[in-house]
Amino acid sequence: MSTPDWEALRSAAVEAARNAYAPYSKLHVGVAGLVDDGRVVLGCNVENASYGLGLCAECTMAGQLRLTGGGRLVAVACRSGAGELLMPCGRCRQILYELGGPECLVDTPSGVLPMSAVLPDAFGPADLP
Ligand code: THU
Repeated sequence: MSTPDWEALRSAAVEAARNAYAPYSKLHVGVAGLVDDGRVVLGCNVENASYGLGLCAECTMAGQLRLTGGGRLVAVACRSGAGELLMPCGRCRQILYELGGPECLVDTPSGVLPMSAVLPDAFGPADLP
């Protein structure tokens, strides 16, 4: 697997944010994930009148990953529609960890980091009996 094209991933995330449904927070979020087979999967946030049931962009990307052939995430970039870098929330870090493992790379304010740094000492599939 070659080096991820981070600029392409970041642009794809900004573009994906155009599909967001965020009437409550007004924060339009998009995410792009490079898969180990070379395809790019996208997600956007989909909010809910209950507030608490809103879906982050990473959640809908997880569905797209599975719906379009599965595979493992190798690099992920999350952006607002305005192009600001956004860090995945705690729940979404766990979702990314499940589908990408400790080596999946994440675009962060501190640079590109592996999931093992973004979610240290993670609980994961290997911890189940
Ligand atoms: N949000 C995401 O979709 N992903 C992130 O990484 C950060 C936050 C969404 C959730 C909610 O719809 C809105 O941003 C405001 O928190």
